[in-house]
Amino acid sequence: MKTLLIVWHSRTGGAQQMAAAAAKAATEVSVRLLPAAQAGPADVLAADGYLFAAPENLASLSGPMKDFFDRCYYPALDRLAGRPYALMVCAGSDGAGVVRQVSRIATGWRLRAIAPPLIVCTQAQTPEAIAAAKIIAPDDMARCTDLGAAFAAGLAAGIF
Ligand SMILES: Cc1cc2nc3c(=O)[nH]c(=O)nc-3n(C[C@H](O)[C@H](O)[C@H](O)COP(=O)(O)O)c2cc1C
Repeated sequence: MKTLLIVWHSRTGGAQQMAAAAAKAATEVSVRLLPAAQAGPADVLAADGYLFAAPENLASLSGPMKDFFDRCYYPALDRLAGRPYALMVCAGSDGAGVVRQVSRIATGWRLRAIAPPLIVCTQAQTPEAIAAAKIIAPDDMARCTDLGAAFAAGLAAGIF
């Protein structure tokens, strides 16, 4: 059975819910759902495909998610060529910075995007809204579910 590694980080719960929705729907593969702080190069090398889920903080990947890539980038370089990946971003109102950053990392790793980046905007912009626990809306959760199911189906069928 193929393995889908889902690496996530979340400060206020949004990206965590998105990752969990995708993981639950990925029934046709073995899913490893790991917080960024617990994921390392061995997990990356052992997987057949990757789903990254993170918030945008200051127009960049959140710190722990960036740290995951920093720790794994060189140990995995030249060892992942052609493997499939997808990206989910939980942003207040943008998300483009994370998309740019991860697509550059993925290019370096020679990963193949199997879907456009999935961005969910929670509209958090005031200090209070930023600090509040997030609840991802049902239609956005459905987009995450669809991505997880499609990724798993394609991976299991050998399409990706
Ligand atoms: C320090 C910090 C910086 C942020 N910077 C951005 C930003 O640059 N662009 C944006 O769209 N949202 C930004 N946000 C908002 C978060 O992306 C938003 O609250 C998101 O829903 C958080 O996801 P999470 O619940 O998974 O942590 C920022 C939040 C924090 C705490």
